[in-house]
Amino acid sequence: MTQEQSNNLSLPEGYTFRKLKSTDYSNKYLETLKVLTTVGTISEEKFKKLFEEWSQNSHIYQPHVITNNQGIIVSTGMLLLESKLIHECGKIGHIEDISVAKEEQGKKLGNYMVKSLSKLAEESGCYKVILDCSDHNVGFYEKCGFQVGGVEMVHRFFQY
Ligand code: ACO
Repeated sequence: MTQEQSNNLSLPEGYTFRKLKSTDYSNKYLETLKVLTTVGTISEEKFKKLFEEWSQNSHIYQPHVITNNQGIIVSTGMLLLESKLIHECGKIGHIEDISVAKEEQGKKLGNYMVKSLSKLAEESGCYKVILDCSDHNVGFYEKCGFQVGGVEMVHRFFQY
């Protein structure tokens, strides 16, 4: 049984789940993230510098995307792996920046992204995977296998 079958996941025909590439600057990566929040003006140079930083620390930063049948990015998601001392040097995964292009929402791409990142966290030896979300997305994450586990606290230094 493949990983996809055992996880009961499937994407529409021609769609692909893969790691972010350095060439994705011009492939709607930023535009897709703008569905989630403000991105700002990011030059290709800035993007490539950040991509390089993520790549050099790929044991921590694992940005992923889903592309459609034309190879265009339609969903984003980041998995961060945190190595801890507690729980016998346990590891936890953090899921961040989940976004699906407006015209592609409702096709289970968000569900596929979150479940795939969770699976990667489990395969990396994490004992849990966590995320923060707004109240209106709780139902979505419950459908991805998550449950409400606490209260998010924030101390903001800038307002975005
Ligand atoms: N509340 C409750 N249920 C929802 C919601 C919601 N906000 N959104 C989707 N669902 C349900 C769907 O109806 C579907 O249910 P079903 O299996 O019974 O048919 C199931 O969840 C799976 O839905 P998908 O089709 O996978 O959802 P989609 O691909 O549209 O992605 C997402 C959902 C990511 C929330 C998308 O709407 C989006 O990009 N929103 C804007 C950005 C955003 O809020 N991202 C999450 C930020 S939190 C974070 O990054 C950790």
